[in-house]
Amino acid sequence: MVATTSGSREGWSSRTAFILAAVGSAVGLGNMWRFPAEAGENGGGAFVLFYIFCVLLIGLPVLLSEVLVGRHGQASAPESVRRVAADSGASKGWGIIGSMGVFAAFLILSFYCVVGGWVLYYIGVFAGDLFQTGLTGGAFEGRAASDIEGLLPGLFGNGGLMVGLNLGFLALTFFFVARGISSGIEWVAVYLMPLFFVLFLAITIYGAFTGNFGEAVSYLFTFDFSKLTGEVMLAAVGQAFFSLSLGVAGMMTYGAYASRETNLGKTSGIIASADTGVALLAGLAIFPIVFAAGLSASAGPGLMFASLPVAFQQMPFGSLIGLLFFIMIFFAALTSSVSLMEAPTAYTLEKFKLPRPVATAIVGVGAAVLGILSSLSFNDMAEFYPLGFIPLFAETNFFDTLDGITAKLFMPIGAILTCVFVGWIADARLIDDENGLDGALHQIWRALVRFVCPIVLTVILAFGLFG
Ligand code: PHE
Repeated sequence: MVATTSGSREGWSSRTAFILAAVGSAVGLGNMWRFPAEAGENGGGAFVLFYIFCVLLIGLPVLLSEVLVGRHGQASAPESVRRVAADSGASKGWGIIGSMGVFAAFLILSFYCVVGGWVLYYIGVFAGDLFQTGLTGGAFEGRAASDIEGLLPGLFGNGGLMVGLNLGFLALTFFFVARGISSGIEWVAVYLMPLFFVLFLAITIYGAFTGNFGEAVSYLFTFDFSKLTGEVMLAAVGQAFFSLSLGVAGMMTYGAYASRETNLGKTSGIIASADTGVALLAGLAIFPIVFAAGLSASAGPGLMFASLPVAFQQMPFGSLIGLLFFIMIFFAALTSSVSLMEAPTAYTLEKFKLPRPVATAIVGVGAAVLGILSSLSFNDMAEFYPLGFIPLFAETNFFDTLDGITAKLFMPIGAILTCVFVGWIADARLIDDENGLDGALHQIWRALVRFVCPIVLTVILAFGLFG
């Protein structure tokens, strides 16, 4: 038996809307903030090339697997997996893939909104600066570079402000998710993603003419094999998953709102290309500035926030460019956070038969509690290492622990299980029917999902954790 759409469910109004929403989910802080930070901390070129390898050979096949399960199931992620299992005569226990994903999405939502809060802060700072110093000069006229780099540590030190901004960003996310698919989530994607791309292109072109481009290119694309350790590989896979929104039910949830007419193979290709393109361009936009200003590439999470504002100081129209830059990041972040919130919301709403706003509020309160702990882990609770007994997470605060366990455990494990499920357990005809691929492409995808992805992922996971 093949499951059919339950008539009253909301869905995307068109294929374009689906693509924009899925690209909106994929493109976010992961590309602009996490990618350069991870690349810098993991040795540059070795990380970047392995990351591209992961996107093509692992990310893309897993992406297609996830949207396919969602579209067939037409429900929240756990229920979609159960329906595919039932239609394939397999155990409904496979639904655990969806449940784990929903839980991981919820964890990510909680700390994602913390970083979203930093974006709001910088919008405020640049708006204020534009107002004070006027349009034409650089940003922060007359202030020392150390002063500007101190903005982020200053924010980190202020627990109350961190919590306030965190909750502010979460509230914005809540507002759109509570409104539903077409008038909330789709609305955000359809209006904000095109604006994002316009701003992104303008700023990258501007950056290419003003920064140290050559050094950035050689840093990002010089492959030094000796730097490719197990830990670097795990970080690269984790980044590929994080950036493509994989392994955490997000893409299954969005796939469930796609219509039968949408070609999922093609759509997955578009999503992955857009996401990877933005990540690489973001690296090429951020590192020239980092090098030109003599800053360290391995600055970690603070890289984008601490270094770019220094560069905006030297640019003509710096306050305006800075303001536009952070507005652009805000758009990208919001279209991702709504997808993170939608996965657990769709589940809560379906499971407990609640009205959407109530389900969204439940998820929101939970994310607020964890978010407050993450916000405080930069100041009052900096010495709290929740998983300190595990070597990989020794001296890792609450925020970094959530980031680490989701990207380095939940996502790869979720992806391995998804591949085994789609490649080996689910009925092959059902899968062929959904994936929109034919001929050689279909064979390649199937081989990747059945053999390459699960094996490579298991090896990388083992090396990264125990190697
Ligand atoms: N892909 C998003 C980003 O790069 C983050 C995300 C992860 C969104 C997982 C949904 C699910 O910012």
